[in-house]
Amino acid sequence: MDYQNDFEMDFEDRIMDTSEIPSDVIDSDNPLRPKSLDEYIGQEKAKENLSVFIEAAKKRKESLDHVLLYGPPGLGKTTLAGIIANEMGVNIKITSGPAIEKPGDLAALLTNLNPGDVLFIDEIHRLSRQVEEILYPSMEDFAIDIITGKGQMAASYHLPLPKFTLVGATTRAGQLTAPLRDRFGVVLRLEMYTPEELSLIIKRSAGILNIGIDDKGALELASRSRGTPRIANRLLKRVRDFSEIIGDGVITLNVARTALDRLEIDELGLDQNDRRMLQAMIKYYRGGPVGLETLAAAIGEEAVTIEDVYEPYLMQIGFLSRTPRGRCVTAAAYLHLGYEVPSNTAAAQGSLFSD
Ligand code: ADE
Repeated sequence: MDYQNDFEMDFEDRIMDTSEIPSDVIDSDNPLRPKSLDEYIGQEKAKENLSVFIEAAKKRKESLDHVLLYGPPGLGKTTLAGIIANEMGVNIKITSGPAIEKPGDLAALLTNLNPGDVLFIDEIHRLSRQVEEILYPSMEDFAIDIITGKGQMAASYHLPLPKFTLVGATTRAGQLTAPLRDRFGVVLRLEMYTPEELSLIIKRSAGILNIGIDDKGALELASRSRGTPRIANRLLKRVRDFSEIIGDGVITLNVARTALDRLEIDELGLDQNDRRMLQAMIKYYRGGPVGLETLAAAIGEEAVTIEDVYEPYLMQIGFLSRTPRGRCVTAAAYLHLGYEVPSNTAAAQGSLFSD
């Protein structure tokens, strides 16, 4: 059976994708991005601590200690980095782990910073070893050692750097090397948002974009946004289109439900791709355990995408568990998808195997 093709999906336009697309990227044109901690909704714990550290650093007229932000994609790590710079009254330079190919690329970035500036490195777990090695002394001693030339012509320069703040973001704190992790004075874990928080974010965004929405409409969008503001804001824009064509321009509960059903996003925020992945596990692997790579090949998706994009939410709502022998669909997921839970499967045995 050629189930490979059955389950191959087109992810280009995945509305529920948590990865950043050009229209989400940080820039002054994105009016939805909050610019201060006061405007930023949710992540109360991270926000409270951060505001203390920022205030204290400002009072001492020092740069803020290096900050590591970690958690699933789409929860506002880039936004928070921008807010940190804004609150500190400094500039921010934005780059990412894979974009810094050589030690020289990092040296160029660092030597162009002004005192106090924020250097934001997204996907910091993807830095190469070589680059990481010059990052350590820069973070600790605010200096880099550069070697130029070869053999007898080799020369080493000790280059002092301005005191800067490194804000690193990663979806996987576990993949950072210990020496890098240890050099961050502030480590903040971002959590998925509650529907109530997302509803506030949706109403704030609707106000900025001049979109009519009532409380019930906002809560409906919020509860189908899988805990992620990036998805909530995307859904808001798509559902607005429906509200203008099938309604009178206001997103009510009815409009939200009709639009989301048409977009095939169910009451829990699962889209076609989530359902197909779970269905593939159920139909071809008896609900698991199935290994990550096997599953990735079966649905034509990359293993990292499954880990970073699909799994966090499916695990959060208790539809998927990771066991030492592989991924398993839970009984709750069987029932949600309209299947009976077969006996003698991992799902039927509940959490016996979960870690
Ligand atoms: N837009 C995206 N994330 C947000 C947040 N956490 N607070 C307010 N607006 C947002």
